[in-house]
Amino acid sequence: MSYNNILSEENNGITTITINRPKKLNALNRETIQELHEAFNHADSDADTKVIIVTGSGEKAFVAGADISEFSDFDVSKGTQLAAKGQELLFNFVENLSTPVIAAVNGFALGGGLELAMAAHFRVASDNAKLGLPEVSLGVIPGYGGTQRLPQLVGKGRAMEMIMTAGMIDANKALSYGLVNHVTTQDELLPLCEKIAAKISRNSTVAISAAIRAINANFKDGVDGFSVEVQEFGNCFGTDDFEEGTTAFLQKRKADFPGK
Ligand code: COA
Repeated sequence: MSYNNILSEENNGITTITINRPKKLNALNRETIQELHEAFNHADSDADTKVIIVTGSGEKAFVAGADISEFSDFDVSKGTQLAAKGQELLFNFVENLSTPVIAAVNGFALGGGLELAMAAHFRVASDNAKLGLPEVSLGVIPGYGGTQRLPQLVGKGRAMEMIMTAGMIDANKALSYGLVNHVTTQDELLPLCEKIAAKISRNSTVAISAAIRAINANFKDGVDGFSVEVQEFGNCFGTDDFEEGTTAFLQKRKADFPGK
């Protein structure tokens, strides 16, 4: 598949999706959002891909936000549509993907950039990363899930302060907030993400997908996460991966899971 604004490459079970508009600090325009949707969808249905890493090209930015030049003349209806469509195509889509998604935050992650990183299943940052939701400085609020996912990750008070001040936090503060799981140098960022991805890849992809659904259920209104867990746990007992995992353990060998 070929794209204008992103790169996507599969290697050793890991698909790396790189947002590739470095001159615009990888800002998310409509076409990029559509291409990301297609690339995530493709990687998710690709039997070889066990983990997806999403990152930005260049040394400066992961993603500096939604492309401001595209929506500066929008009215209420177009603004509402922009958020709804973006959430459906990319942000909610990524969060609910069956394949684990790691965001490798390699620089500015602002607005839609931080929202994309937060939609990923977890985040690793380089030490030059700056994270923030500056939307109120533009007269809008975060519209790609930021008002919901930031408080889930860092707590309500910290999210309120970050959103109200429109300020940026550095990588170490993000680490202390629990917004990112690890901080490393820019050179080591992708190797570290790949190392974590390799560790994930050794486990059952089927069970990991079930775990993603159960964990996400904790954050869905009107859904009883404990019931979802019971259901997903039970369903595992009908899978080939469960048979292989338990048999391998009892035979004192490494499991060789059938895969997706
Ligand atoms: N949308 C559209 N274009 C963007 C962008 C965005 N969110 N973020 C950066 N760019 C563009 C700039 O307009 C500039 O383009 P130009 O060279 O054609 O003028 C280019 O990317 C480089 O950005 P620049 O501002 O010159 O880099 P900087 O190092 O001086 O500043 C930032 C970096 C991230 C602090 C600054 O670009 C910024 O504040 N961006 C907007 C962040 C934001 O508000 N995001 C939320 C959007 S809802």
